[in-house]
Amino acid sequence: MWSLFVALRLVLAFIVASYAQDQVDDSLLTFKSRPDLYPPKLSVNISENGVTPGYIFMAPYQSLQNTAAIYDIDGTLVWYGYGVTGTGGNIHDFRVCSYNGTDHLCFFNGEQYSGYSRGQAVIMDTHLRQVRTVTSQNGLSAIDQHEFNIINDTAITVIYHPERYDLSAFNVTAGEGWIQNSIFQDTNLTTGELVFEWSAVEHVAISEGYVSPNQSEVAGTGFDARSPWDYFHINSVDKNGDGDYLVSARHVSALYKISGEDGHVIWRCGGKFSDFELLDGLNWSYQHDARWLSQNASTDIISFFDNASNGFNQSASHSAGYIIKLDHTADPPTVSLLQSYPAPEDIPISASQGNIQILKPGNWANSNTFIGWGSQPYVTEHDSRGNVVYRANIAANGKMNYRAFKFNITLSPMDSPALYTYALDANANTVYYMSWNGATEVRSWRVYGRSGCTDQWRLINEVPKSDFETTYTVLGYQEFGMVEAVAENGTGIRNSTNRGIKAFVPSSSLTNNCTVNGCNVVSGYGINTGQEVVAAETRSGCAALPVSTTPNSTTGSQTANKAIDLQPGIWSTASIVVFSSLLVSAIL
Ligand SMILES: *[C@@H]1O[C@H](CO)[C@@H](O)[C@H](O)[C@H]1NC(C)=O
Ligand SMILES: *[C@@H]1O[C@H](CO)[C@@H](O)[C@H](O)[C@H]1NC(C)=O
Ligand SMILES: *[C@@H]1O[C@H](CO)[C@@H](O)[C@H](O)[C@H]1NC(C)=O
Ligand SMILES: *[C@@H]1O[C@H](CO)[C@@H](O)[C@H](O)[C@H]1NC(C)=O
Ligand SMILES: *[C@@H]1O[C@H](CO)[C@@H](O)[C@H](O)[C@H]1NC(C)=O
Ligand SMILES: *[C@@H]1O[C@H](CO)[C@@H](O)[C@H](O)[C@H]1NC(C)=O
Ligand SMILES: *[C@@H]1O[C@H](CO)[C@@H](O)[C@H](O)[C@H]1NC(C)=O
Ligand SMILES: *[C@@H]1O[C@H](CO)[C@@H](O)[C@H](O)[C@H]1NC(C)=O
Ligand SMILES: *[C@@H]1O[C@H](CO)[C@@H](O)[C@H](O)[C@H]1NC(C)=O
Ligand SMILES: *[C@@H]1O[C@H](CO)[C@@H](O)[C@H](O)[C@H]1NC(C)=O
Ligand SMILES: *[C@@H]1O[C@H](CO)[C@@H](O)[C@H](O)[C@H]1NC(C)=O
Ligand SMILES: *[C@@H]1O[C@H](CO)[C@@H](O)[C@H](O)[C@H]1NC(C)=O
Repeated sequence: MWSLFVALRLVLAFIVASYAQDQVDDSLLTFKSRPDLYPPKLSVNISENGVTPGYIFMAPYQSLQNTAAIYDIDGTLVWYGYGVTGTGGNIHDFRVCSYNGTDHLCFFNGEQYSGYSRGQAVIMDTHLRQVRTVTSQNGLSAIDQHEFNIINDTAITVIYHPERYDLSAFNVTAGEGWIQNSIFQDTNLTTGELVFEWSAVEHVAISEGYVSPNQSEVAGTGFDARSPWDYFHINSVDKNGDGDYLVSARHVSALYKISGEDGHVIWRCGGKFSDFELLDGLNWSYQHDARWLSQNASTDIISFFDNASNGFNQSASHSAGYIIKLDHTADPPTVSLLQSYPAPEDIPISASQGNIQILKPGNWANSNTFIGWGSQPYVTEHDSRGNVVYRANIAANGKMNYRAFKFNITLSPMDSPALYTYALDANANTVYYMSWNGATEVRSWRVYGRSGCTDQWRLINEVPKSDFETTYTVLGYQEFGMVEAVAENGTGIRNSTNRGIKAFVPSSSLTNNCTVNGCNVVSGYGINTGQEVVAAETRSGCAALPVSTTPNSTTGSQTANKAIDLQPGIWSTASIVVFSSLLVSAIL
């Protein structure tokens, strides 16, 4: 009887909990001034003195909205790119990159299917405008999420391309077999020309793979073009000063040095045919994100993320970040462990994705290291001895994050600050909720009010910025509100709309379900769908005046409404076409 009672209570609690979940998912952030955004919350668990200042770059997906997100190290949202990062789909590999000599934001944007995507690489300037895309060339599939690596004046991207392949050795004899070829392209960003292209099937035998057809969720059956067998699974590409490449591939559990001359494999490290003897108990598998830290004729120093699992096979109890040393002078050549950054005990193994960022790559031996744990949406920072000095996570609930990074960046958005104001009645105090998505230079807010469209704005106060959205209550009723974002040096940077935001004042029949800060969140609808909508006045407001939002900066000279040329070169072609058709019509 007692247990039945407990069970009933549990069921009831579950129903109540899932109902509440439907209303407000507390793994997501919400803001009164930006009701369109639902960014995942980043919960900071450990933050010790040695943590490196900077912003955290992530692109969590399988969330309500899938896009790029920047947080500061205390978990405060800085920018959420929903709606402005591209054409829908997912974002991956979001980070600061150097393009045309200055800091930009780089990411992949595309449609994801299983562990793959088809899309394009996008470059944004620090005013959060898309300035450039990189797409695949040579008639292949659109590029994939696994790499977008700008080094000097070229961009490396990868392509997963289905190709016909004789798989009779795997009993695919009824007809043509299909293989998922792993390709990378290196594109000159100045000219758009392809500098180099490499394809796995020409250089790596299918027998190097550990994953048989249909053996994992991303293995593929090999039976058709929509399910090609993915024997290699490229997931990172780096490049050295000689123009050679370092490739990591998950399904062969190996790193490859690839000649930038002819694409041949210079050496294999790990996997079935390693050219190196693995010392120090090294035995990684299904790894990601291999980067050269230094390199000469005798030695390579490389960092990478060892998943140690693909969800089916496992080579260690935990995933880890590694710095390894390849010694070419030893006979046979050896690979040894210089530093490991194991996952904290309670972070489950990362069966996919993940990355490792050496925060001072030029001084890796004394550098802190930032790790994104991939399918487990945690980030950690470690000191040079491997100790965890920082730890944060987004609530899993099925969410994942391919790569995470830490960078400094200064962002000054083209768009203006957002404001919502509220007063319980026309004699009450007015609450201002203000934010500016992506702006990094705001120290405080100047708060303005006025009571009619022709009145001058009255400066009420200047209040420190706190959190993504700052809340401030102004004494007395302000029918219209405006706020000005103010920089550290006291300069006003940008105003919210100069038409003013009209305060929301609940009517007398709503006011009982409202407080001085706002009204209740409605958790169900009492509207009779057949009911006629009663006549009501429109909301009166003021007209907006034109205002220049041209940033005074080194990289931007365009005004807010000017179209951005996404692909330099296309406009000139377009204008030639238009011009020639005008010419043709003139002749006819
Ligand atoms: C951090 O997470 C660990 C593991 O879940 C937990 O034991 C610890 O209490 C957390 N610390 C804080 C400050 O939340
Ligand atoms: C690169 O930067 C220069 C100024 O340094 C600017 O004139 C040029 O338009 C930029 N090019 C692109 C493609 O952004
Ligand atoms: C192919 O089929 C033969 C005969 O049924 C079987 O012995 C062999 O194991 C199969 N090979 C593979 C790779 O499945
Ligand atoms: C890219 O193109 C520019 C302009 O032609 C050239 O100066 C530069 O050397 C090229 N870079 C590479 C890596 O090919
Ligand atoms: C692939 O494996 C699944 C089970 O894991 C099985 O249901 C399916 O039939 C297999 N497909 C092929 C084409 O063998
Ligand atoms: C990039 O440029 C730097 C500085 O010129 C040079 O040292 C480095 O080798 C270049 N890297 C590549 C991959 O070209
Ligand atoms: C490495 O791990 C695999 C499991 O993935 C295991 O079968 C193998 O014996 C290990 N090798 C060594 C040298 O420990
Ligand atoms: C950010 O800048 C600070 C101050 O210059 C520096 O200490 C820190 O290492 C930088 N962070 C990153 C991630 O580069
Ligand atoms: C004040 O700071 C803003 C934003 O950082 C900057 O654009 C502006 O040039 C600075 N003004 C002065 C006078 O230093
Ligand atoms: C914001 O508006 C106020 C009031 O009109 C004005 O004094 C101020 O210069 C504006 N600030 C900016 C950055 O345009
Ligand atoms: C306040 O909302 C509740 C439902 O949550 C409703 O029953 C009640 O009638 C509302 N109060 C007024 C004064 O409308
Ligand atoms: C931007 O630059 C122009 C021309 O140099 C100057 O007139 C204007 O005052 C500047 N605006 C701001 C907000 O600094």
